[in-house]
Order: sequence, then structure tokens, then C-alpha cells
Amino acid sequence: RRRLLGTAGAAGAVGLMTGAAGGTAGFAAVDSPTPITVVGSTAVPFHGTHQAGITTPMQSIGHIIAFDLVANAGRKSATELMRRWSTATEAMTAGRPPADDDQIALDAGPCSLTVTFGFGRGFFTKTGLDDRAPAALVPMPHFPSDAIDPKRSDGDLWIQIGADDPLVAFHALRVLQREANEAATVRWQMNGFNRTPGATARPKTVRNLMGQIDGTGNPKPTDKDFATKVFAPDKHGAEAWMNGGSYAVVRRIRMLLDDWADLTLPQQEQVIGRRKDNGAPLSAGEGGTETTPMDLNKFNPDASLAIPGDAHIRVAAPESNGGATVLRRGFSYHDGYDTDGQPDAGLLFITWQADPAAFITVQTKLDGADHLTRFIRHESSAVFAVPGGAAPGEYVGQRLLE
Ligand code: HEM
Repeated sequence: RRRLLGTAGAAGAVGLMTGAAGGTAGFAAVDSPTPITVVGSTAVPFHGTHQAGITTPMQSIGHIIAFDLVANAGRKSATELMRRWSTATEAMTAGRPPADDDQIALDAGPCSLTVTFGFGRGFFTKTGLDDRAPAALVPMPHFPSDAIDPKRSDGDLWIQIGADDPLVAFHALRVLQREANEAATVRWQMNGFNRTPGATARPKTVRNLMGQIDGTGNPKPTDKDFATKVFAPDKHGAEAWMNGGSYAVVRRIRMLLDDWADLTLPQQEQVIGRRKDNGAPLSAGEGGTETTPMDLNKFNPDASLAIPGDAHIRVAAPESNGGATVLRRGFSYHDGYDTDGQPDAGLLFITWQADPAAFITVQTKLDGADHLTRFIRHESSAVFAVPGGAAPGEYVGQRLLE
């Protein structure tokens, strides 16, 4: 849904560098109006059937923030809040300053800013709309290896902000938090990042902080059943407001990076089931690429499974979970070092699915059976109903609140 993609920017940058490499005059010799990058001018439409930030290519900066409605907020105050937030978002995603602006992103352009809003279970109770809460919005079960901090979990309202510029992303975060006024207070907030668009010659699947190519096995928007897997099924009646919506599961997953670093490269590859350098499945042998289909039935000459029985991709695959599928679209995070010298780093793991039951099915299977479990720790958890996108003139959530 981006009007322009990072590729155009990358091509522009490559063009300039080629010119520079061609002579000692370097960049001074290049008198081209080609912009070095289109990062600033790239806008993602705010209006649409679905909210932006679900199928949008991953941005380099992410902020996620959860709010609780104040105790006596009620439906009217929640309605006004969603209207204020939508108005400000519509402006900022088009690169215009919102009302009463603080000028943080004044000359930066939209930078692919997306803002995605979700409702937690408490939102429906506090606004008197329990009878319209989706049946699929169940509380997350406790998984045996969870180490969940309740203070950094759940929330009545959730916002995911993504942008390709840190100032643009922070600006949106600050504007929306100020707009919450007396209606809602911050419950928790987390910051993440991905590779900068244009840093590779072609758009590529990102790497996570363990160094693996991460996102290969995701459902693709071109798949026939993509929408069925990612977006809530159309309904009539009390849940019709969720048409075009999706469910977001958010897990802050700490990586135990020192333990991970103690493994050899082949050991690391066995944990995931893919090569680290190019992401090829271990069943592909030499010459495999990231897109070579994995073969879960392939054996090595010594009769061992090419993709081990406890490899992450085997245990997580839809084939191992009755078809349960999630779209993973997260951000890496790094919050400094603990006093014992361990990095507080990992994944702000966000999945999108037609029903959170898909995540629960996969996570139930992974917990314990997945070799990767020994190198990660789920530290916070939340699930949100994310309504469909706003049509022009509408605010997000209007079909629920009015
Ligand atoms: C695949 C890493 C947590 C579900 C992968 C791959 C990597 C990876 C490197 C292979 C490349 C790819 O297909 O993207 C991680 C890391 C995690 C983590 C580092 C935690 C820090 C999870 C969790 C779930 C999950 C919690 C779901 C509950 C999947 C699925 C696949 C996958 C469904 C694709 C399997 C397929 O090819 O069909 N993950 N993962 N992952 N992961 Fe994870």
C-alpha cells in the first residue's frame, strides 16, 4: 500500500554512488536531481478497508504503547478520543502537522508513518460495550515457560506506530499520547527497530538480533487465502464493526543472547532449521535459497531428519499445527544491559491473524517442543481487536462506538 517503495530510493542511492566511484571528483561530479532517498516523501494511506501497519512493508522504527481508559471515561469520552487520534493520524501520515503541533517532525515528510489502533478486553467493559466484544478476543492463556510481567502486558487501548524515521515515529507517539488527555493513561510503552530500507540493494527479509533471516515463512499477500488467515471473517450483527479488522497478539520476547552466542553456527542452524547466511531450509542442501520450499520429510544420509524434530520451523509450521497460520510483523528491541551484563534485547513479536486462536495453537505447540524455547523468554503479553480501516470522513472504531 505504500505509494513508493524503498527500492526506488535504493536505486537512486546506487546511481549516485556509481557516479562517485567513476572518478576521483566523487559526488561533486554528479549533478543529478535524483533524490538520494524517497524515504521522507513516502506516504502510506490512512484510509482503507484495513488499517495500515498490518500488510505495510516493515518500517525501520516501531513504537508500541498501551493505554488504560480512566475508570469513569465511558463511551462518550472514548469516542472523542478515537476521533482526536484519527484526525491527528490522518494529518501526520500525509506529512501534515496535526493541530497544536510541537514541530518535532516539521520538515521530515511522512516517512511511511503508519498508526494502527486496537482495543483490549477492558475497553469494552469500560465503555459499556461488553455485548459487542468479539468472541474471539479471549484472554491469553498462561504457557508453561512464560515469565510474564503483568505491568507490561494487556491494556484497554493499543497503538502500533511504524515509520522510517525516528523523529517522525517519536513525534506520532508524543502527539497521540498528549491527545489521550484525561481519557486514558499510559500503561506500558516499548520501542523497536528493523533494518533501514535502502540498506540492501533490494528489499530483503530482515534479520533479527540472533542474526537469522526472519519472516520467510510468512503468508504472502499474493496467497489465495491470505485475507482469510489474516483478517477477521465478515459478520453481521454485534460483531459487524470488526469487518476488515484483524487481531494483534503482542509478546515481548527476550533473547538470551549470551547463551545463543555459546552455540556453534551449525548448532544455531539446527535450532531454527534454516541456514543463517541465506535463510535456506536445511532440507535444501547446497544450492538452496531462502525461497526453496522446506521438506519436512527429508533425511540426511545418516538417517537423521534434515530439519530436526525440534527445529523451530518444523514445530511452528502450519503443517504441524492443523493449518494454524499467523502473520509475523515485529520489531527488534534493545533496552540496554542488565546489571549482570546481559543485553535486555529481543523481539517485540507481533502477529496478525483472523483469530487469536491461531497464535494460541502455535504457541502451545512451540512451548516446550521447540528447541528455540531454551534461548528466549516471553516477558509480556497482550491481545487486541484491531478494527477495520476508517473510510474518508470516518474515525477508527466508529462502527463500534456510534
Ligand atoms: C519461522 C525466529 C518466535 C512462529 C521463524 C524463522 C526464524 C524465527 C528465524 C525462520 C524464518 C521465517 O520463516 O521467518 C524466531 C525468533 C523468535 C520466534 C527469534 C523469538 C524470539 C516465534 C513465535 C511464534 C513463531 C513465538 C509463534 C507463536 C513462527 C512461524 C514460522 C517461524 C509460524 C514459519 C514456519 C514456516 O516456515 O512455516 N522464526 N521466532 N516464532 N516462526 Fe519464529
